Amino acid sequence: MNNISIIILAAGEGKRMQSNLPKVLHKLAGQTLLSHVIDTAKKLSPQQIIVVYGTQRPQVAEQAKALGVDAVAQKEQLGTAHAVAQALPHINDQQRVLILYGDVPLISEQTLEKLLNTNEHTAAWLTAYLKNPYGMGRIIRDYTGNPSAIIEEADLNNAQKSINEINSGVCLLPVNALKSWLKQIANDNAQQEYYLTDCFSLALKNAVPLTTIHTDDADEIQGVNDRLQLAHLERIYQQQQATKLMQQGVSFADPKRFDLRGEINCGKDVSIDINVIIEGNVTIGNNCHIGANVYLQNAKLGDDVTILANSVIDGANIDAHCQVGPFARLRPTTHLQANSRVGNFVEIKQSNIGEGSKVNHLSYIGDTTMGKHVNIGAGTITCNYDGINKHPTIIEDNAFIGSNNCLVAPITVGHSATTGAGSTISKAAPANKLTIGRSKQMIIHHWKRPQTAKK
Ligand code: UD1
Ligand code: CA
Repeated sequence: MNNISIIILAAGEGKRMQSNLPKVLHKLAGQTLLSHVIDTAKKLSPQQIIVVYGTQRPQVAEQAKALGVDAVAQKEQLGTAHAVAQALPHINDQQRVLILYGDVPLISEQTLEKLLNTNEHTAAWLTAYLKNPYGMGRIIRDYTGNPSAIIEEADLNNAQKSINEINSGVCLLPVNALKSWLKQIANDNAQQEYYLTDCFSLALKNAVPLTTIHTDDADEIQGVNDRLQLAHLERIYQQQQATKLMQQGVSFADPKRFDLRGEINCGKDVSIDINVIIEGNVTIGNNCHIGANVYLQNAKLGDDVTILANSVIDGANIDAHCQVGPFARLRPTTHLQANSRVGNFVEIKQSNIGEGSKVNHLSYIGDTTMGKHVNIGAGTITCNYDGINKHPTIIEDNAFIGSNNCLVAPITVGHSATTGAGSTISKAAPANKLTIGRSKQMIIHHWKRPQTAKK
């Protein structure tokens, strides 16, 4: 347990997003900006996490609470020091408080650990060198190189504008000192705001040791102010995820065309074609191949599974050596047992497909328990819904369902039963027998084709 608390500032309006949704609730990798920051904050095991939100944007507080952290309102956005002052009375007596930002989603645990590793009596600030420092507070240093102040863009003189060491905003401050500094901060600056950065010079004035920690990663301290920056950080994030996966033995046809919006666990020698989207919790075994344009959500794939292009897999469990797709849709609680196959234009919902069974073409299988080595002919529909209730279908081992069958549930097809093509099966089809449920073929001998009328 670290002896720290964390305040996450998230009260800003986010005007430049041009959105009705509060900025920190916009999503990066399928997850809100705020929840990225909260996740990282939690990894540091602080005593407490408090989000400062704008009273006008209560959804931010709701999200904070849903994620198990506290939220404190800031009525008017009078500056970063004012925002921190709203949270401070709620902070337990901690050694230091870490200030993070709800709109800086890629801040890394490793960098924050570096701040935490500084002496517990110091005020530590995270800084970076930027090619284009415009808009950021600059770190002013004296002739010996010691930091002496942070000056905001609007308050810089011309000479100071060329300084490219900037304040990331992230800092770790001793709580007791901070309490007294907040009382001393005034808003007599160009923006008439209460600047948290004034703590920097107050630390020096009060002889509180001050240190700066640098990060070389300009992206991790970048804030999101508009949708362009959001899209930029999304790509950065996705590139990082693809890089990690490649280091773990995954190959990508193009790592730039991969989207992870959740957690993935991959075995070795997995190959992923372009435009694959992963959501929720996905586990992929060894030697799997994921085809182009595949969407995988909360799915578990065993070893040697192949998912062919354009398939949508949601909440399914797929055992070893199965093949799915192209154009297949597996819906939640579907279980494909080893060596089974699901082909094109097949939808499977809440069903068990037994070992080695095949549903290869144009079928709907719902609420079905299917045994081993069953073959389902093209165009088979389990009629599981009578308009009010859903009913189960049981298809036992080695059954063979002819093409274009309707299996009207509740229904059982016995083991090694065969059904004729085009059948509507509404009563049990017994084991080992051929069941045909279609009208008999007729031949009309005296029938004549109509002729075109003569003029
Ligand atoms: C701040 C820093 C600046 C730094 C920059 C990095 C100050 C005074 N300046 O400037 O040195 O280079 O961040 O991005 O701290 N917020 C509130 N309540 C408020 C005001 C702000 O919650 O009353 C939140 C905003 O939602 C935002 C963050 O604090 O997420 C930063 O506020 P902003 O006013 O944008 O500060 P910057 O001008 O970016
Ligand atoms: Ca800002």
